[in-house]
Amino acid sequence: MRHILVVGAGGGLGQALVKHYLNEGVLVTAWSRREASFMHDNLNWRQLADYRQDQIEPELMHLNDLDGVISTLGMLHNDDFMPEKHLGAVNAAQLRHSFEVNTILPILLLQQLVSKLPRKQPAFWVQLSAKVGSITDNYLGGWYSYRASKAALNMLLKTASIELGRSHKQLVIAAVHPGTTDTELSAPFQERLPADKLYTPEQSAQRIAQVIENLTTEQSGKLLHWDGTELPY
Ligand SMILES: NC(=O)c1ccc[n+]([C@@H]2O[C@H](COP(=O)([O-])OP(=O)(O)OC[C@H]3O[C@@H](n4cnc5c(N)ncnc54)[C@H](OP(=O)(O)O)[C@@H]3O)[C@@H](O)[C@H]2O)c1
Repeated sequence: MRHILVVGAGGGLGQALVKHYLNEGVLVTAWSRREASFMHDNLNWRQLADYRQDQIEPELMHLNDLDGVISTLGMLHNDDFMPEKHLGAVNAAQLRHSFEVNTILPILLLQQLVSKLPRKQPAFWVQLSAKVGSITDNYLGGWYSYRASKAALNMLLKTASIELGRSHKQLVIAAVHPGTTDTELSAPFQERLPADKLYTPEQSAQRIAQVIENLTTEQSGKLLHWDGTELPY
């Protein structure tokens, strides 16, 4: 049976991905700071206090025969911060927090989990990223912390893909842009979106799974759109 780990499983896309893979008959280990909202024979839901290394360490022994990992870890806004609309709104606390969640947690997660990824079989490491983290594609400006932390994330994943490509020849590391999806993260920014540009978590989970299904080792280190095409860094 295939075994996939979903990290950040309690969020909008995380929950939809867990359900998608369970419906496909996959064994799913789910890590979240939240409690499970449902049960399933093939679901191993693990509630973690947070994603710091000391919390992850004891979980590693439960992770055997992994085929892949999907990390949804990311933040755009919270009770303290909204995306910066202009330079004057940029501040150190928001930059630090965005980099902590969007950049530092994901790369340390990969560092800690790499020993659990097969060296000689196909495997994937997918981190949800964002098109707005593309430097080339930035035509609108704004959202300083989110853009910069996702751009840095993409660089870290690209760098890791080069190194791990030597030891894990069939591992594909990819940053995937899920498209604007109806979750808490996008909720404050949905008003001006045309209805056909806002996707349900189920739709996006299906598309992310499709991208994963079609991954090739040549795509390792890339930022991929939900339709499978490559986005520029
Ligand atoms: N929704 C969109 O329109 C959209 C568009 C482009 C990219 N994305 C990306 O897709 C990913 C998932 O987004 P989503 O829409 O599903 O958002 P979400 O519902 O807010 O989920 C984000 C996940 O990140 C984790 N997280 C958030 N803040 C954290 C913190 N301070 N410390 C530790 N973990 C934290 C949470 O894990 P727990 O399970 O532990 O709560 C949560 O499941 C994000 O990386 C986001 O940047 C989303």
